[in-house]
Amino acid sequence: MSAIRIGLLGCGTVGGGVVRLLRDNADSIATRVGVPVEIGRVLVRDPEKERVPELPKSALTIDEKDVLDDASLDVVVEVMGGVDPARKYVCQAIDSGKSIVTANKMLLALAGPEIIARAAAKGVDLAFEGAVGGGIPVIRTLRESLASDSITELSGIVNGTCNYVLTRMRQNGLAYSDAVKEAQALGYAEADPTLDVGGHDAAHKLVVLAMLAFGAKVAHEKVHTEGIEKIESSDHDFVARFGYAVKHLAIGRDRGDSIELRVHPTLVPRDTAIANVNGVLNAIAIEGRALGPCLLSGRGAGDMPTAVSVVADIVDVARARHSGKQGNLTRAVRLQDRTVCSIDDVECAHYLRFRVFDRPGVLAKIAAALGDANVSIEQMVQVGGGDAQGAAADIVMTTHIAKDGDVRRALEKIGKSDYAMSAPRRMRILGGPPATRGRHS
Ligand code: NAP
Ligand code: HSE
Repeated sequence: MSAIRIGLLGCGTVGGGVVRLLRDNADSIATRVGVPVEIGRVLVRDPEKERVPELPKSALTIDEKDVLDDASLDVVVEVMGGVDPARKYVCQAIDSGKSIVTANKMLLALAGPEIIARAAAKGVDLAFEGAVGGGIPVIRTLRESLASDSITELSGIVNGTCNYVLTRMRQNGLAYSDAVKEAQALGYAEADPTLDVGGHDAAHKLVVLAMLAFGAKVAHEKVHTEGIEKIESSDHDFVARFGYAVKHLAIGRDRGDSIELRVHPTLVPRDTAIANVNGVLNAIAIEGRALGPCLLSGRGAGDMPTAVSVVADIVDVARARHSGKQGNLTRAVRLQDRTVCSIDDVECAHYLRFRVFDRPGVLAKIAAALGDANVSIEQMVQVGGGDAQGAAADIVMTTHIAKDGDVRRALEKIGKSDYAMSAPRRMRILGGPPATRGRHS
């Protein structure tokens, strides 16, 4: 075989980084694979667009058939994003015997099991290191390095845009909308940034992580998903008083008979490693039954970090193809149906903020509503209010571990009261009862 030829579906932020790395490191990549790796055709929407690095006009096409029907291409690299038409193109490429590399977590979350089954049936490789954690080798770690262990839980900062926005708000006092614009300009945000700030991108990544960590085949709608849009600057100040930082976390826990999969703003103690992972950095804490704790951290978004992961996958699948040993990456992912437990059944401590009319007896009523729902208060501060009856005050507290559904019921009751000025706010605090022994091994 002379060279491994790849076709690119998309050449934007990530695709541009892939082209650059394949060019800049062509010699070392050829040495690792055994033959050179060449870019064949590149599908884009607008062939006239200026691209850095430049590609010869003859390589660019707007007709997907030029990639999918080109029998000289061995590997298709999908970096176009979205579910349709990416799903159709990837399936067609698999059916024609090409190996696949993708960074598309949305595609994997919505159609991963179908695509994996198709690739397994055809005996080709499907690799997706770039889909979670940008340049952090978390997929490889779960798939290969921890193959002999079983994972009890993982929690991670997996959306660079959210972490960047929260960091810029907390450290630099930036307004939320300005911080989101910055993340877009830096190439971190999805084409639709509401996927990032609404928590959906993190939920897609958690579905992918759950496939590898728990062997779980789950519908992405089962992930309890909250974004960062409602966090106010004052929340950062309040949680700091209690010794925490706010992070947007994706959390997966194996409870044995079910798994917890949830994405939401989370309070983490300020002196922990994950609380100090800032900006676009991601971090994923993995708890292996045999290994114990393990923390992976690095740049979680952007052209070059993500391209590092995509090109590592290209090297793997190209090497397998060159040596005639395709399909092992696909076979390593074994999926089974797993039940996702209701968020109401999750147990953890909470941060609660009530904006109320400062009147005698209000605090007692809040405490009673929480107590009636079995929710025990740990710490409490009041900010604002004053001598004028009915001035606005924030009552902010943390609770002991409580059932999520109990907290929800208490907050609904308080939210409907005549002393509440707005809906109560809550954020969960990292931790809870130990995850029970899982089934997957
Ligand atoms: P992007 O900058 O918007 O690039 C998308 C590319 O795909 C562009 O070249 C675009 O063509 C092409 N494209 C999109 N739809 C197409 C269609 N229907 N037909 C033909 N070409 C089409 O996106 P990106 O940031 O590189 O992200 C690509 C993928 O990587 C996504 O799945 C994303 O979630 C994932 N990802 C991104 C990052 C990141 O930091 N950006 C990190 C990890 C994973 P034109 O150039 O002509 O518009
Ligand atoms: N939009 C994603 C993020 C890109 O901000 O993390 C990396 O997957």
